[in-house]
Amino acid sequence: MNQHVSALLIGLVGAGITLSASLQPFVSPTQCVTIGLLVIIFGLLVKEGFISLSLLVYSKDGRSRNLRWNGNGATSSIECGVFLHDSPLSTNSSSSSSPSVASTLRSWIALNMKESNLSRGNLDQLLVAAEEGGEKMIKVKKDGSADFKTVTDAVNSIPSGNARRVVIWIGGGEFWEKITIDRTKKFVTFYGDPYNMPRIVYNGTAADYGTVNSATVAVESDYFVAVNVAFVNSAPIPDGRRCGAQAVAMRISGDKAAFYNCRFIGYQDTLCDDKGRHFFQDCYIQGTVDFIFGNGKSLYLNTTMYSVAKKFGAITAQAREKVNDDSGFTFVFCNITGIGNNTTYLGRAWKERPRVVFARTYMGTIINGEGWSNDRHPDRDRTVYYGEYKCSGPGSVSSARVKFARILSDEEAKLFMSMTYIHGSNWLLPPPKF
Ligand SMILES: *[C@@H]1O[C@H](CO)[C@@H](O)[C@H](O)[C@H]1NC(C)=O
Ligand SMILES: *[C@@H]1O[C@H](CO)[C@@H](O)[C@H](O)[C@H]1NC(C)=O
Ligand SMILES: *[C@@H]1O[C@H](CO)[C@@H](O)[C@H](O)[C@H]1NC(C)=O
Ligand SMILES: *[C@@H]1O[C@H](CO)[C@@H](O)[C@H](O)[C@H]1NC(C)=O
Ligand SMILES: *[C@@H]1O[C@H](CO)[C@@H](O)[C@H](O)[C@H]1NC(C)=O
Ligand SMILES: *[C@@H]1O[C@H](CO)[C@@H](O)[C@H](O)[C@H]1NC(C)=O
Ligand SMILES: *[C@@H]1O[C@H](CO)[C@@H](O)[C@H](O)[C@H]1NC(C)=O
Repeated sequence: MNQHVSALLIGLVGAGITLSASLQPFVSPTQCVTIGLLVIIFGLLVKEGFISLSLLVYSKDGRSRNLRWNGNGATSSIECGVFLHDSPLSTNSSSSSSPSVASTLRSWIALNMKESNLSRGNLDQLLVAAEEGGEKMIKVKKDGSADFKTVTDAVNSIPSGNARRVVIWIGGGEFWEKITIDRTKKFVTFYGDPYNMPRIVYNGTAADYGTVNSATVAVESDYFVAVNVAFVNSAPIPDGRRCGAQAVAMRISGDKAAFYNCRFIGYQDTLCDDKGRHFFQDCYIQGTVDFIFGNGKSLYLNTTMYSVAKKFGAITAQAREKVNDDSGFTFVFCNITGIGNNTTYLGRAWKERPRVVFARTYMGTIINGEGWSNDRHPDRDRTVYYGEYKCSGPGSVSSARVKFARILSDEEAKLFMSMTYIHGSNWLLPPPKF
């Protein structure tokens, strides 16, 4: 309900009270007319935006979540109403905290990205130098009508020590390739045809390559960008009998990487968010167990996690281990769905000190009521940092949540819900368009 509709309803109530002045037995007609007029004035103030109903809704929302979960979708419409009115935290769109509603997500990004241009002062100087002269474009098409037929050949054409942005434009179709971009090849962008998204597919498994080297695409260099690309590992779903059946679709081990509108498809260990600072926006990630794992420090925005776990699944296995490891995964304005019910945990404490936060994320019935798993290490109950902030949907905070799940305050959440979390102002540029 927007403020105009609320105001209209309040106005109608006021008018009703005024008109019933001589019909009701409770107070004198004059008092009744006065009350009616006051209600109408209140309505006008709401309409003009002097009084916001959001605070009322917000405080109701704030602490009563345990009562809301009832194991089906019934709460989502209430959540939706709450979603539209929001906390004071997010009303300042020029601050670094995330915006209140999905529709303002875009404008918030636009606003933040507007300052993300080469002329801003604090930008990483290596990056400025690489971008300044304009990019070098290499085209890949399967039909041989461009520079190369395979992505591998295009990557091989980039010299070691590359210091300039190189865009590999990739036409549609399926590319059966296993690719590694080593650390000497910085500033590489994969840009898929937006109208015909290319899929890079391979079926390496841990049994054949070791887990981290099973990746279809592994990026070890800094300043990598991918736009409109599907990274797929097509190895079969682990059946619990074959050893080393886990299979990575993409591994990102370089610092300062960004992914826009990409898809990551696999089962166990789909996305190895290995190390460095990363940004994911408008992506789709499919998996079963630990489908986002590693020791990276990443912000996921407007990204869908789709669980296909049959019995047990875990979205994250964040691998923070030491107290001074500056890593963690933060999900803001994301969406968790999948096939099945009650199968999937938000995180599994694979290592000692994982740090994972879900904020303003929709959680479907796929999420197990307990929410988080200590991976049968009770001592990790004290060392994990597993936070939730204003999430919605039947899988969001329930009475069955484990004790070590944290419900974050506005103040605590602020830290995570911002580009500053990944030091974005130092390196993040808007997605390129060609
Ligand atoms: C919004 O936040 C910015 C930076 O934090 C601050 O300078 C500005 O005064 C704020 N604007 C309002 C309307 O609160
Ligand atoms: C680039 O960033 C600077 C500094 O933040 C800002 O003043 C300027 O308006 C931006 N330019 C564009 C074209 O967005
Ligand atoms: C990967 O695909 C190849 C070719 O289709 C096949 O021969 C091989 O057995 C597959 N490996 C796995 C682990 O699925
Ligand atoms: C979220 O991402 C999807 C693509 O997965 C895109 O279609 C949609 O416009 C995005 N929503 C917002 C609010 O940016
Ligand atoms: C979440 O993602 C699923 C699958 O892509 C989609 O059908 C659904 O509409 C999304 N829900 C929300 C709340 O964005
Ligand atoms: C999940 O539960 C819903 C109703 O709560 C049901 O319609 C659906 O079939 C269930 N899905 C599975 C895979 O059990
Ligand atoms: C969900 O699964 C857990 C076991 O993982 C079980 O204890 C719990 O009762 C289940 N909840 C529902 C609502 O089925």
